[in-house]
Amino acid sequence: MDVRSEIIYMLKMANIFKKVLIIGSGGREHALVKACLKSPLVETVIAAPGNGGMKKEVECFDAKIEEPQEIVKLAIEQSVDFAIIGPEIPLCEGAVDALEAVGILTYGPNKSAARFEGSKIFTKEFLKKYKIPSAAFEKFSDSTSAIDYLRSLDHPPVIKASGLAAGKGVFIPESIQEAIEVVRSVMDEKIFGDSGSEIVIEEFMDGEETSFHIMVSGEYFAMLPTSRDHKRAGNGDTGLNTGGMGAYSPARDIPKSLFNRIVEEIVRPTIQGFIRDHINYRGTLYIGLMLTTEGPKVVEFNVRFGDPETQVLLPMLAQDPVDLMIKCAKGQKVPEIIPQKSGASAIVVLAASGYPNTYPKGDIISENKTPDGVEIIHAGTLMNKEGQVITNGGRVLGVTAYGENIDQAIKKAYQGVDAVDYASKYYRTDIGQVRGTF
Ligand code: AMP
Ligand code: GLY
Repeated sequence: MDVRSEIIYMLKMANIFKKVLIIGSGGREHALVKACLKSPLVETVIAAPGNGGMKKEVECFDAKIEEPQEIVKLAIEQSVDFAIIGPEIPLCEGAVDALEAVGILTYGPNKSAARFEGSKIFTKEFLKKYKIPSAAFEKFSDSTSAIDYLRSLDHPPVIKASGLAAGKGVFIPESIQEAIEVVRSVMDEKIFGDSGSEIVIEEFMDGEETSFHIMVSGEYFAMLPTSRDHKRAGNGDTGLNTGGMGAYSPARDIPKSLFNRIVEEIVRPTIQGFIRDHINYRGTLYIGLMLTTEGPKVVEFNVRFGDPETQVLLPMLAQDPVDLMIKCAKGQKVPEIIPQKSGASAIVVLAASGYPNTYPKGDIISENKTPDGVEIIHAGTLMNKEGQVITNGGRVLGVTAYGENIDQAIKKAYQGVDAVDYASKYYRTDIGQVRGTF
C-alpha cells in the first residue's frame, strides 16, 4: 500500500470521509446533500447530476447516472471517498458494484440485491419461499396464458409489470375486459418495453396502506422512524396517484404493538431470508405494506429511500445519518431502532400545476427567507445560464419543517410555503390532516 492509499485506508477505518458523492437529482437527494453537509464526518459534498437548489450548496456534475461506468469515472476523477446512490435505476444497473470494484465505499444495495425493486417476480418468489405474508400470485411470460388465467379467476386481480416502470406498472382493473386490455398493452404492445415481458397477477388485498424504511447492513438492520406519505394529487386524498405530495413523521397511526408486529412478522424474516440466500444487502429497504384483517402483508419492496419520506425522516434522526450509512455500507452493526428526536417533521410538496399529467416547465422561481426551522428542498429545478433557478419537473420543491409535534411541524411547513413563488405553483392544503394514501 502506498502512502496515499494508507492514509485513505486509515481515514476510512476512522469513519472520516472527506469527499462524499450523492447520485440523483430529486428532493430525496437534496435532503441527503443537506444531511452530509451537517455531518461532522464529511468535509466536501458533490452531486451528480443535482438540481437548481443542490447547485447553490455543492458542486454538481453532469453525468449519465444510469450508466455505472459514468459514475465511476466521475468518482475517480473527483477522488470521492464515499458515494450514496439515491434512485433505483443506477442501483438496478449495478452502480454500487462498479464503485466498489474500484475501492469506493458506497451506500445502496448492489445489483443482485436491487432485484427486489427491479423484478417483482424475484420479490414475490422470495416472499413465498420465506412465508412472508403477501398476496398470492402467479407469474406469466406470454399474454395468452395470462389472459386464460384472468378468465379463470373468481376474485379481482392486480396486474403488475415485473420490471421497473417508473411507478406506473401496477394496474387494478375493474372488469375482465379492462384486465385483458392491460395484459395486451403491457405484454404485446410493450408499453414499458422489456419491463413488461413478464408480469405478475396477484390477488387484491383490502386494507390500509403504510410503509416502513429500514437501513440494512448485511445481517443487521436499523428501523427508521415511521412516516406517512400523501400520494394523491388532490385535497382529501383524491385525484391521480403521484410520487408523493407531502409527508410527515412519525406517523400518527402506527401504535407500538403494530410496529413490533411488522418487525417480527415481516422485517426480521426478510433479513433472515437475505442471509440464507446470500444476498449481501447494504442499503435502504423500503417496504410497502397493506394492513389487512389477516395482518400486515407486503405490497412491494423498494431498494431506496422514499421521496418525499426521506425529507422528513432524516431530520428526525438523533444519530448522524451519514454515520449510519457508512456503517451499513461496511456491513457493521447498527442499532435495531435508530434513536429518534422527540418532535415531528413535515413536508409540503410544491408541484407544477397539471402534475402528474402534463405541466409547464421553465417558470422562474423566487425564493425569500424562510421562517426559523423551515427549509426549502429542491426537486424538479434547474439553474439556467443566467444563474436563475427555474422549474424543471412535476414536483418542484418541498417545504420542510421541524416542530414540537406533528400539528406544529405541519403548520410551520405551510407558513414556509409563501417564501417561494413561481407561476405554476400548486400544492395540497391538507397534508397531515387526512389519512394519506399510497
Ligand atoms: P406497487 O408498485 O407494487 O407498490 O403498487 C402500487 C400501488 O398499487 C400500491 O401502493 C397499492 O396501492 C396498489 N397495490 C399493489 N398491489 C396491490 C394488491 N395486491 N392489492 C391491493 N392493492 C395493491
Ligand atoms: N413516496 C413514495 C416513493 O418514494 O416511492
